[in-house]
Amino acid sequence: MAVITSIEDLRVLAQKRVPRMFYDYADSGSWTESTYRANSEDFQKIKLRQRVAVNIENRSTRTQMVGQSVAMPVAIAPTGLTGMQHADGEILAARAAKRFGIPFTLSTMSICSIEDVAQATDGHPFWFQTYTMKDRGFIERLIDRAKAANCSALVLTLDLQILGQRHKDLKNGLSAPPKLTLANILNMIGKPRWGLGMLATKRHGFGNIVGHATAVSDMSSLSAWTSEQFDPTLNWSDIEWVKRRWSGKLILTGIQDVEDARLAVDSGADALIVSNHGGRQLDGAASSIQALPAIVDAVGSKIEVHMDGGIRSGQDVLKARALGARGTYIGRAFLYGLGAMGEAGVTKALEIIHRELDLTMAFCGRTQIDQVNKDILLPGSF
Ligand code: GLV
Repeated sequence: MAVITSIEDLRVLAQKRVPRMFYDYADSGSWTESTYRANSEDFQKIKLRQRVAVNIENRSTRTQMVGQSVAMPVAIAPTGLTGMQHADGEILAARAAKRFGIPFTLSTMSICSIEDVAQATDGHPFWFQTYTMKDRGFIERLIDRAKAANCSALVLTLDLQILGQRHKDLKNGLSAPPKLTLANILNMIGKPRWGLGMLATKRHGFGNIVGHATAVSDMSSLSAWTSEQFDPTLNWSDIEWVKRRWSGKLILTGIQDVEDARLAVDSGADALIVSNHGGRQLDGAASSIQALPAIVDAVGSKIEVHMDGGIRSGQDVLKARALGARGTYIGRAFLYGLGAMGEAGVTKALEIIHRELDLTMAFCGRTQIDQVNKDILLPGSF
C-alpha cells in the first residue's frame, strides 16, 4: 500500500473500501453542497505569517476544552452511522481518541450504543451528542444513560430539527443496516474488508434507539426517524430543560449567527460550536471559519467558542485557533481514516493532524498552542 501522508490519502482509501451508500453519506452536503465546499475552501484563503530565527524547541499543543485537558484542540465530532463506515466504528474511534488524549463524541445516531462504547473504553469518559425530540421521555432516558456511562460533556445539536436534503442519500436509499437490493449487494461484493468486519459484529442498526424509542415506522431509515421523532418546536426554554436534566458540561452546536451566540451565552451553556453541520443542513450558509470571527468578537469573553466544518489538516486547526476557536472538531477527517483502516486509520488521521499543527505552529514562530492568536495570520487574508 502506498505511504499515507495526508487526510486526502485516507479519503481515497476509504472511498475504495466503504460501500458507496455510507461513503456518500459521510462525504456529502445538502443540495448544491456550496456550504460544504466553502467550509474547506475558505480555510485555504487564510494565509499564515512565516517567522524565522525564533527558538522553537519544546513545543506543546496541549490545551483545555471545557476545562478538560486535551493533547491538541481537536475533538472527534459526533457523526451519524459511524459504525457503518467500519464494523464497530464508534468503539474503534473512541479507543483511538482515548489513546491520543482527545475527546471522542458519540452521536445519538450511532450504530454502537452508549453502553457499548463505555464498556469498550473501560469507562474512560467520552462526550455524548443529542438532539431534542418529541418523545421527551426518550431524551431523558438518553441523558440518564450518558450520565451512567460517565460521559463528561453533552453536545446538544440545535440545527437539526429537520433534515437538509442530501441528494446522494435519497438516490442510494440510505439505511442501516443496508437493504439487500441487487445494487447494494453488487456494491458490497467489491468491499470484502468491510463485509468481513460486518459479519463479525452484531452491531448493524441504530444502537441508541432500537429497543429504546417507539413510534418510528422504519428503524433503519434516518429520514423516517428524523421526520417522525425530531422536534420542530425546539426553542431556548427546551435548552434550559436539557441543562437541568444533564447538570454537567453543556456544549451547544449549530451556532452560525451572532444573535444566536448571545442567546447561547444567556442559556448558561459552557461552550458553543460555530457550525453549519458540515454543510449538511442550510445550503448557502457562510462557511464556519467565515462565521467564526464575529461570534468570537461578540461572545468570546463570555463563553468558550469552538468550531467545526472543513477541517482537513493541522494548518486548518491552527487557523481556527488563531481566529479565536478554543477547540475544533473533525468529522470527515476521522471518518476517512476509519473507513480506510479502522482504528489504525483514526490514529493515523490524528497523528497527521497533530504533526501538521505542531510543525506549522513552529513555522509561525510559536511554541505553545495557547500563545497562538491573530498575529500569526497575514492581515487582509481573513
Ligand atoms: C446527522 O446529524 C447528519 O448530519 O446526518
